Amino acid sequence: MIKKTVVMLAMATLGSAVVVAGESLVRSAEIWPDNNGVHINAHGGGVIVHEGRFWWYGEHKIDGKAGNNAHGAAVHVYSSKDLVHWQDEGAALTCSADHESPIADGSVIERPKVVYCKKTGKFVMYFHNELRGKGYTAAHLGVAIADRPQGPFKLVRSERPNKGLLPEGFNASSLSADDKAKAEKFAAISNPWDPAVHPELSKFPYTFYGMLKTGQMSQDQTVFIDDDGKAYHICASEYDATLHFTELTDDYLHSSGKWWRVAINDYTEAPAVCKRGEWYYLIGSGCTGWKPNKARLYRAKNLRGPWERLGNPCEGTNTVTGQSADLTWGGQSTFILKLPGKDRYIAMFDIWRPENAIDGRYVWLPIEFKEDSLTIPWKAAWSIGEP
Ligand code: DGJ
Repeated sequence: MIKKTVVMLAMATLGSAVVVAGESLVRSAEIWPDNNGVHINAHGGGVIVHEGRFWWYGEHKIDGKAGNNAHGAAVHVYSSKDLVHWQDEGAALTCSADHESPIADGSVIERPKVVYCKKTGKFVMYFHNELRGKGYTAAHLGVAIADRPQGPFKLVRSERPNKGLLPEGFNASSLSADDKAKAEKFAAISNPWDPAVHPELSKFPYTFYGMLKTGQMSQDQTVFIDDDGKAYHICASEYDATLHFTELTDDYLHSSGKWWRVAINDYTEAPAVCKRGEWYYLIGSGCTGWKPNKARLYRAKNLRGPWERLGNPCEGTNTVTGQSADLTWGGQSTFILKLPGKDRYIAMFDIWRPENAIDGRYVWLPIEFKEDSLTIPWKAAWSIGEP
């Protein structure tokens, strides 16, 4: 970020923006040094507020392509009072040396999101987990728990959720024998992008039915806490075709058994959710691996839908890389932070650098609400002010 604090009283020019004395600005896509002067290492992450401090959890990356898998400090955590100056708090969740562990060194541990459960006093972490050496085929949801925001988080389980449970409102007797057979066939494939399979699979709306026995796939994911304290897990499922929303139990540790499907066959990844007034908003991306694509916005008055797909909320050009809003400025959504007690929301994105994962950058921009929708205009440098 930021931390371009100018000691002199005069104004100084830094890059394309002017930094006024004492002001700290968010400079998306640049190097964001922590308290040790090291670029923050918390990718695909999320931020919570606890007892007046912000806690930022994200994927810990290492140098080179190897950094696209989890090694060492799988989930890194930082804390801050102002969202600008970040203190390194170390590893929140650490990889296991046991190669059979779901969180083995070399596994995939992505998009960690932490929530604080007032009822139990515990911190619960949800993350996308893929097993070591198995590519992206396991599609597990990882859950870990801690007593303190900085951890250490302890793995509770890693599995496909909602095993044996049908989505709300779905009547299995409405499925023909042919559809049931197709659902079984598609649930067992190894490569959903295989041109021999993908055209038919991408239009078929019942793959989830074939996954009743294994549990539902859970890949890109987030957790959203509603105003009433209820927590919801939201993930890309069915080979990324469809989002699954699951209402969690009051201890935030399990599926309540109530789940439903959203944006069916839209192929939305990277969900980030917020609520403002009577609207819930979901920002997501398309599915192009580590490469950027166009963001998309959905809105609904009820988490259970109907969800309406709107356009791309991003505007302007990334002044650091030259990438346009049509490519989400080279980024991909990860989280929306609502500032506590304020009508202010910060949209957070990652610019992935898969050739040298540790060099991934962050894009944090204020959301602008207009009537019943929102936009996110690029800003080269902006002040968070009092968070
Ligand atoms: C896109 C996802 O949004 C990322 O979190 C990551 O899983 C990459 N795909 C891997 O290609």
